[in-house]
Amino acid sequence: MTYETYLSLGRADLLERLQETLSPHRFQHVLNVEQAAIQLAQAYGQDPIKAGLAGLLHDYAKEKPDAYFQTLIAERGLDPDLLQWGNNIWHGYLGIYAIQDELGLEDEEILEAIRVHTIGKANMSPLDMILYLADYIEADRNFPGVEEARRLAYSSLEEGVAYETAETLAFLAKKGIPIYPQTLETYNAYRHFLER
Ligand SMILES: [Fe+2]
Ligand SMILES: [Fe+2]
Repeated sequence: MTYETYLSLGRADLLERLQETLSPHRFQHVLNVEQAAIQLAQAYGQDPIKAGLAGLLHDYAKEKPDAYFQTLIAERGLDPDLLQWGNNIWHGYLGIYAIQDELGLEDEEILEAIRVHTIGKANMSPLDMILYLADYIEADRNFPGVEEARRLAYSSLEEGVAYETAETLAFLAKKGIPIYPQTLETYNAYRHFLER
């Protein structure tokens, strides 16, 4: 397993960097997502190295302070509407800037999968779907419905994405949490894969 095609760091050095950057709980989570993404990639004939690396890096920016993202939005001239949202949106959508700047990752497919890992989009690539699902079904996830999510993820990537998005929307709506418009786009694009 080598990640050096995409990064100047090998896996061991990357793990050291992640361990310095992330809490122990989140470090374990990214290791789990790496494994889940590799397994899905193998099941669907996709590149396990790209999937594994996307899994390891997807939450790289999750523990950065809000001020980091607020500054980034201003400095890069990004859509000021992003300021209304929070870490749940920022750490993926904007986390790719930290991954590019601090780790030197340039692969557009991996960066895009990380960018959309919490919100999805219409027309996701296989790698986008693999990361989106791996984050949801990794070994330590134990919410009600996770077994169904695992079953569907291995039935088809699209069915898995449809189920995860519908469940996430329902969860957010029940709690009165605002829904990022792109999450609704994902739902509308994939809902016809839901079992009825
Ligand atoms: Fe995340
Ligand atoms: Fe995650």
